[in-house]
Amino acid sequence: MEYSEAMEWLARRAGMELPQEETEEERRARAERDKALEVMKLAARFYFDNLKKPEGKPAIDYIRQRGLSESTVVEFGMGYSTDFTSLPDYFSKKGYDTKTLKNACLVSQNDEGRIIDFFGGRLIIPIINARDQVIGFGGRTLEKDRMPKYKNSAGTLLFDKRKTLFGINLIKKLQQAETVNDIILVEGYMDVISLRQAGIKNAVASMGTSLTVEQCKELRKYTNVVFVSYDGDAAGQMATWRSLDLLARAGLEVRVLTMPEGLDPDDTVKKEGREGYLLYKNAALPLIDFKLKSLSKRYNLNTADGKNKFANATLGILSALDPIAKDLYVKEVSKLSGLSAESIANSLSAELEKRARRAPVAETKKENAAQITDNNARIVAARFLLASVFSAKDYVKITDIKDEYFDFEPHKEIAAYVKKCIEKREPPKIGALFDFVEDKSEIERITEAMSSVPVSQAEDYYIKCIQTLEKSGLQKKKAELLEKIKISSDIKEQQLLKEELLKLIRR
Ligand code: UTP
Ligand code: MN
Repeated sequence: MEYSEAMEWLARRAGMELPQEETEEERRARAERDKALEVMKLAARFYFDNLKKPEGKPAIDYIRQRGLSESTVVEFGMGYSTDFTSLPDYFSKKGYDTKTLKNACLVSQNDEGRIIDFFGGRLIIPIINARDQVIGFGGRTLEKDRMPKYKNSAGTLLFDKRKTLFGINLIKKLQQAETVNDIILVEGYMDVISLRQAGIKNAVASMGTSLTVEQCKELRKYTNVVFVSYDGDAAGQMATWRSLDLLARAGLEVRVLTMPEGLDPDDTVKKEGREGYLLYKNAALPLIDFKLKSLSKRYNLNTADGKNKFANATLGILSALDPIAKDLYVKEVSKLSGLSAESIANSLSAELEKRARRAPVAETKKENAAQITDNNARIVAARFLLASVFSAKDYVKITDIKDEYFDFEPHKEIAAYVKKCIEKREPPKIGALFDFVEDKSEIERITEAMSSVPVSQAEDYYIKCIQTLEKSGLQKKKAELLEKIKISSDIKEQQLLKEELLKLIRR
């Protein structure tokens, strides 16, 4: 919790009134939030009560068919929207205006301009925060072919999907009752619900989209160890790897479950029971082992070519490790590939040398984000520069944003945008990047970059970044000139290039 939030919470728990010195604006914001919480709570209750009505039968049938017990339904406060008009009617009878409901994303307007239940006809799953407040809903269709399968509250005053983990309220409760040793991270609502019904109480869901830094930080408040339990097919995907790295970078120990192809945790626990699922959990691999193993599956290790390609593909992973881990995992790759540990260690040294040589100089080729390792000093420096710009740090000078600092395509685009903003005398906004930067993960990395450095050292670090960019820029230019000299066949041109190079060297 934020400090003020914590004060509020403690005061409420102690039954005290917190002496407030709110500004008018703060008071209004809080009143608005309270109002939103109130309608969410009422809506949750309304949907829940529908299950007891005759009109609730389709949902009851669906719940039964999915094998959910009554106590599970109650524990999660699940409900049902019987139709598109009951909810708006209910609220208007109680005197709530449409705007309040719209802001809470409980209603929307249909093509004829009528106000309808946003979740009309769906099974309702309340999304509840760590303070036990209903902040959003997920609504699942009961019919197989209706699209989309789930509708979720859009961003509201209360609900930001990127900051929310479904089930975090139950983790909080669990934490009060017992020690939480680890948390299982799943993708879907139903995974959390189903695992809990099976007695596995420590699961939360990222709700389908790729994991965010905020969600990782939230997890970190409750545990040091995360078991990632995604669908059988999803686990090996690159998108998942990114989530895994994000968790690790947030300081979490990451383990990855491998489940049968095509099954999610809900399916698995239904099919193989609590004990069956826990076997998969016990067999979960540490992050590096998991990465190596899934890489090994992409190659045919029965052929020399496959072994070679696999070993080469692991070098990126191995080169990021500390020396002791490196030694261990070289042996592991040797085991997986059947190549000698010595030859792998040799390739690794060569790779590390290559990286070290390349590190200060820019990549000339177009790279894909996954290949960019964070030890590439130039990219890291450019990233921090941009992060400082977007955080409106007062140590940033407009003249610091030089085209030549940015070689990575997303950075180029972002720098161009920043320059345009400066011209228009508008503050650049990080949110605007989502409209044109294709590599969304790079936006996230930029957002993260600021929090990776203590505030007190941000300025010093910034200066180092600029120095790195300057120095490596010079080296890059020299390298380019040298290259030109090599390929030039014209003596005169060569002479000119050499003079230019000398000038740079003397600088
Ligand atoms: P899945 O498609 O894996 O759903 O999406 P699921 O949880 O297994 O659902 P069931 O078992 O079919 O009921 C995982 C999560 O992605 C989000 C939801 O949060 C879902 O739980 N999602 C999925 C959506 O938001 N919208 C969709 O249309 C689909
Ligand atoms: Mn499922």
